[in-house]
Amino acid sequence: MSMFDTAPAKTGDTFVRHNPNYLKMFYGTDQVTPFWVADMDLPIADPIKDALRYVAERGQFAYEFNSEGIFAAIAGWFDRRHGLTLKPENFVPFPGVLTAISLLIRELSDEGDSVLMQVPAYHQFGKMISSAGREAVKSSLINEGGAYKMDFEDLEAKLAAPKVKLMLLCNPHNPIGRVWTANELARVVEIAERNNVTIISDEIHADIIYGDNRFTSLSALDNQRHVSVLGSPAKTFGMQSISNGYIYTENDAILKRMKHVEDSMYLGHGNAFTTFATIAAYEKGDAWVDELLAYLQGTIDWIGSFLTDELPSVKMSPVEGTYQLWLDCSDTGLEGDALKAKLGEAGFGATPGIWFDEDATRFIRINIAAPRADVQDALRRFKKVLD
Ligand SMILES: Cc1ncc(COP(=O)(O)O)c(C=O)c1O
Repeated sequence: MSMFDTAPAKTGDTFVRHNPNYLKMFYGTDQVTPFWVADMDLPIADPIKDALRYVAERGQFAYEFNSEGIFAAIAGWFDRRHGLTLKPENFVPFPGVLTAISLLIRELSDEGDSVLMQVPAYHQFGKMISSAGREAVKSSLINEGGAYKMDFEDLEAKLAAPKVKLMLLCNPHNPIGRVWTANELARVVEIAERNNVTIISDEIHADIIYGDNRFTSLSALDNQRHVSVLGSPAKTFGMQSISNGYIYTENDAILKRMKHVEDSMYLGHGNAFTTFATIAAYEKGDAWVDELLAYLQGTIDWIGSFLTDELPSVKMSPVEGTYQLWLDCSDTGLEGDALKAKLGEAGFGATPGIWFDEDATRFIRINIAAPRADVQDALRRFKKVLD
């Protein structure tokens, strides 16, 4: 029995993932086990809960800033976990990764410019680009029997377009679970550099890496002239509602500009709960994350065997990282609304692929950061309604 086998009790309807109105809207019923939002239905690490208790019980909520403490803790973590040397002074705090990306888009391009993103993509990417008045230029990842790779020829052509000023990269990639290799990333950086395109690298899933795969941050590559990296403890530690995000860049001009944005809009004030929880997570969360990764791997292995042995019409892309699994349901003969109706019938709250790519009508994404038995029950129900 693992500590992750039980989901914490849910009180109230304010958890987005469990909100019955959303479930009814998406699946036609609220009798669904939800695996759609990319947060965690798992017990959180004790040091984080202790830190939150400490702040609550201290009973003092005066102005209190410690972004230096946060960035020293994050730099220590990346050094220990990924062998990456980051300079604490090159971080800029922001309320979240999405806020940081939205501001970078506005600061580093002009209205009417274009931003390249690779699809399937985390669904907020398109919204962040269009709501900033920029055009999203899409480069489709190449699906080779379920395993995805970048289309470098397409990138060469699209990044050369004069209007494309930025590329929004997702590394590791949500929703297809690739952990891009150092070689792939070096190639992307080289093409971007040649075309004067700045890369915004969303690395929020950096710590969820399986087996022999190795996470390479864009900040580890030689050429840093056109690179900004985004991160946050949200995904690693299940701190989605209590985390802040950050930008890390070794480009002095971008650093100065984003420090000015943060300072002039008072975005780095943080919050004592977030501050103490973040430092505790990065300083004392190693053992918990190791256990989490082993648990998630066990769930992935179970799903792999289940699909092969009992539900071969559903195929899983190889999972190198993230707790988002990308499943191809093409062989079920279902797509779009018909596939969604079957999810509702099975009480299986996976996300329809169309959220991530308008062409992915036969795909679904499952967030497996949940007790394994819940995932198993939902997949067994799905098999039953498909039989
Ligand atoms: C790739 C990616 N970026 C950003 C976020 C959200 O970041 P934040 O909550 O810090 O704004 C998510 C959440 O699912 C994500 O998958």
